[in-house]
Amino acid sequence: MTLSNLPIGIDLGTTNSVVATVSDGGFEVVPNARGDKKTPSVVSYDQDSQSVFAGRQADNRAIHHPEKTVKSVKRHMGTDETFSLGPDQYHPEEISGLILKKLIEDAGNELNRPLSNAVITVPAYFSDAQRRATKRAGEIAGIDVDRVLPEPTAACLAYGLQSTAGKRVLVYDLGGGTFDCSAVKIDDGVIETLGVDGATDLGGDDYDSLIVNWVADTIADEYGSPPALNNPKVNQRLFGAAKEVKHELSSRTSAIHQLPFLELQNGDTIDYELNITRGEFAEITAGPTQETIDIMNGFLNDLGLTPSQFDDVLLVGGATRIPAIRSAVEQFFGQEPRTDLNPDQIVALGAATQAAILNDIEVPAVSTTNIVPSTEASQGEAAINEGSNPILIDALPRTLGVELQEPRTNDTYFQPLIQSGESIPARAEINVTPVRAHQTKTRFTIYQGDEGTLEGNDEIGELVLGPYPPKELDEYSQRATMEIDSDGIITFTAVSLDADVSDTTEIETRFNREEETLGGTNPDLPALHR
Ligand SMILES: Nc1ncnc2c1ncn2[C@@H]1O[C@H](COP(=O)(O)OP(=O)(O)OP(=O)(O)O)[C@@H](O)[C@H]1O
Ligand SMILES: [Mg+2]
Repeated sequence: MTLSNLPIGIDLGTTNSVVATVSDGGFEVVPNARGDKKTPSVVSYDQDSQSVFAGRQADNRAIHHPEKTVKSVKRHMGTDETFSLGPDQYHPEEISGLILKKLIEDAGNELNRPLSNAVITVPAYFSDAQRRATKRAGEIAGIDVDRVLPEPTAACLAYGLQSTAGKRVLVYDLGGGTFDCSAVKIDDGVIETLGVDGATDLGGDDYDSLIVNWVADTIADEYGSPPALNNPKVNQRLFGAAKEVKHELSSRTSAIHQLPFLELQNGDTIDYELNITRGEFAEITAGPTQETIDIMNGFLNDLGLTPSQFDDVLLVGGATRIPAIRSAVEQFFGQEPRTDLNPDQIVALGAATQAAILNDIEVPAVSTTNIVPSTEASQGEAAINEGSNPILIDALPRTLGVELQEPRTNDTYFQPLIQSGESIPARAEINVTPVRAHQTKTRFTIYQGDEGTLEGNDEIGELVLGPYPPKELDEYSQRATMEIDSDGIITFTAVSLDADVSDTTEIETRFNREEETLGGTNPDLPALHR
């Protein structure tokens, strides 16, 4: 494979998505048709053209056409929810498919080559169903997804850490709407996720809301009425201003934003000057910053690790540019986190690195500082080359097991087979016996979850073994095997050893729509606006 048909890497984010590739000069982010390096993960249906806007244009339409616009669909991947986009309803993977289609078309135009394959990243905690849905979104967009790669693994690859030996790395990822922290172990080219934690309702956008609340309170104190936040236009202006000053405060110690003709709730209009210092910003947003530290603290406790046991701390996600976050993380770990790569781009660059690795392309280390002690890197050659390609290991997000029956009491219970946190690919076997003599079929119900009970976990599949010849109880010999591959795909097999009968199932989990729309693009999907 040559660079001209090298697959791309895509960070398919909740708020924004980024595309990257490897070129002769190294890794690079591929800008979209507007020249932006980030594309909002938003789609919006346009009645007039009966087509779909994706990206910045879609995001701009959100305020005036909320019912035709879908944002943050990543939060719903792998579920059965549907979203209306104009006249029709779509599944999450179809909405994601439209976003991917836009990303791929733009990237193909920019790179001047057709794109047929990609590596797409997902949060490390994504379940099998969520990973499948992501893969399916790629197919809907018309590409083959070579690998569904966990975001923290991508971050390590972007920093060229795969060739380091015996390192423990903490990835702190604060995006627009989610916080993820992951502990990763790297050894001999093996990247293993030790565990993941986080919050799905905590992100940089909460900092915007806190600024808006502070501005509203300040205005109410000064003018006797808060701004008319229930008016969508006023609301949008204030949130826009909050985001701008937030971004400015990452590089300056104070920020000013003019808000002329600002409408108040009592009908008055004022010319307001939003004036905020970095210190004030840190104070009003201390809550979410501390929450991320508390989550990490609990997370490390659960893992039995202390902050000083990490060799590297990587900051990922746009919101980690906030200076107060950087210093909170630095204080917690007692070391400066790595910030030499652009936090918005790390995940996409890591996905591009994985794409190169999968295609045996020699790729340069992206690291700007020379922290890769391998001989290849110090000689200025590729940090990854044929033969030294890392094996990437993820952790199973939720325990997999089967329903078994206690023979004396007939009570059923959840028998874990592969525990959450275990590295994947993984495999587990268990010997089983039919409950009754002369029985000719065995039903296995497969569950996923960490509740320890059948009721608390999700039923994700079923397999019926048999028919096999009837026997006395002690003559039966049966075995069940659970396997999960590096894409998170589960295969469950049951064998009747005494009768040489076996059955196997690939588990679709709750994500079961592949058949309906299999074979390329869903013909019912609306066209992208051009
Ligand atoms: N210079 C900056 N200073 C402070 N915050 C910033 C800066 N640039 C971007 N952000 C914030 O980063 C957030 C977006 O981060 P990012 O693009 O990494 O999110 P995402 O990956 O789409 O979301 P998620 O990780 O939740 O899926 C927004 O809240 C944005 O305001
Ligand atoms: Mg992200």
